[in-house]
Amino acid sequence: MDRFPSGIERYDFLDELGRLERASRFAETRKNLFDEGPHLVSSPELPWGDEVRHLAVEAYERFLHGETWITGDGAREMESQIVSWMGSILGADSPAGFVTSGGSESNMCGILAARQLADRGGSVVFPAIGHYSLPKLCRMFGLDPIPVPSIPGTLCEIDPEAFEAAIRPDTIALIATAGNWAFGTVDPIEAIGEIAVRRGLYFHVDGAFGGYILPFLEGSGYDREMPLWDFRVDGVCSISADLHKNGMAPPPAGSLFFRDQSYLAAAKAICPPNGTMTGTRGAGPIAGAWAMVTLLGEPGYRAVSLKSMALRDAFIAGVEKIEGLRVFPGSRINIALVHSDVFDLRPVVASLREGGWMFSASATPPPVSIVVVPMPQNDGMLDVLLEHLGEAMSLAVPLAGGEDAIGGSSMSKYGF
Ligand SMILES: Cc1ncc(COP(=O)(O)O)c(C=O)c1O
Repeated sequence: MDRFPSGIERYDFLDELGRLERASRFAETRKNLFDEGPHLVSSPELPWGDEVRHLAVEAYERFLHGETWITGDGAREMESQIVSWMGSILGADSPAGFVTSGGSESNMCGILAARQLADRGGSVVFPAIGHYSLPKLCRMFGLDPIPVPSIPGTLCEIDPEAFEAAIRPDTIALIATAGNWAFGTVDPIEAIGEIAVRRGLYFHVDGAFGGYILPFLEGSGYDREMPLWDFRVDGVCSISADLHKNGMAPPPAGSLFFRDQSYLAAAKAICPPNGTMTGTRGAGPIAGAWAMVTLLGEPGYRAVSLKSMALRDAFIAGVEKIEGLRVFPGSRINIALVHSDVFDLRPVVASLREGGWMFSASATPPPVSIVVVPMPQNDGMLDVLLEHLGEAMSLAVPLAGGEDAIGGSSMSKYGF
């Protein structure tokens, strides 16, 4: 077939497909220190990297169908394997949950379950530095958001006392974050869990970024000081953790875990039939995620996590050798926030972008900070990035003082 019913010719179609693929910059994966997805590469530490990625893509392709009540049995089996495997790693004795389209949907479904259990609307308390999906879900569901500012003089430290003081009689849920974007910090979840138990409140943990790396860093001994943040903390009712971030699975794939079936039953009561926001789901993402989880297992995720952190640590060491730059302290995951107290980095950001680097820029600390998320696919590229960063510093302008953060009109939350 050379010409299709629409009139388009095969070669024109393939040309256009190629053009759109280039516009999406998929080929620049190794320069991508932001993106999500199955970007493993083989290396001496991860010799199976590329094969695992290819098999995840094959699984995705074989499940291109949607999951309905007629076609979904295989996908639902895969989903339940993911939930019971990862749910128990997160410390639940009888985990329940489902695969979602990502962190936003997981956070939404967690709070919808809270709303169902409370049997009313009301307010939700969370750190002001939490992800934008938290105020977003409040607006969507008619709940009142109560963002708690960080401790004065700090950017990302949360005071549990201030958190408790923000609770109102109409509060139905508390949310905290394990692996904040863009600081990489973990909120004081044990202290907030204690508050949740004492006040009888639902407690959801947003582990979208940290969920598939923190347990493996703890398990490998990389971070022996890791604070408890998962179901081992009394009071934690649900946890979101993104398969398409550190789970290395093809998007869109997140996961939401409940401590037990009773919470899942509440989620299903408000969001029938399966607790998610959608009706028919794509089964491809479930299959791709199942392939990753099945092929990597705990040893694989440990190796991936250690590789990501080794790249991050080498990057940090390199940044600290560049005059005027420093890495904001406190990140426990593969996020490094680079900023300067003496230079305006906006021309540096522009130069890196022109060089094809994909990363985020944050307006906090102002005027702009560079946020990179090293993952195994960046192997071999961090030194090249450091070289470019060092050279681009000649473009940085000394700070005059009083510069404002780049406003929302010129930069999105992710700094594009
Ligand atoms: C902490 C956190 N929560 C939630 C989300 C939202 O995830 P998604 O974009 O997959 O909906 C993100 C995305 O980066 C995140 O970092």
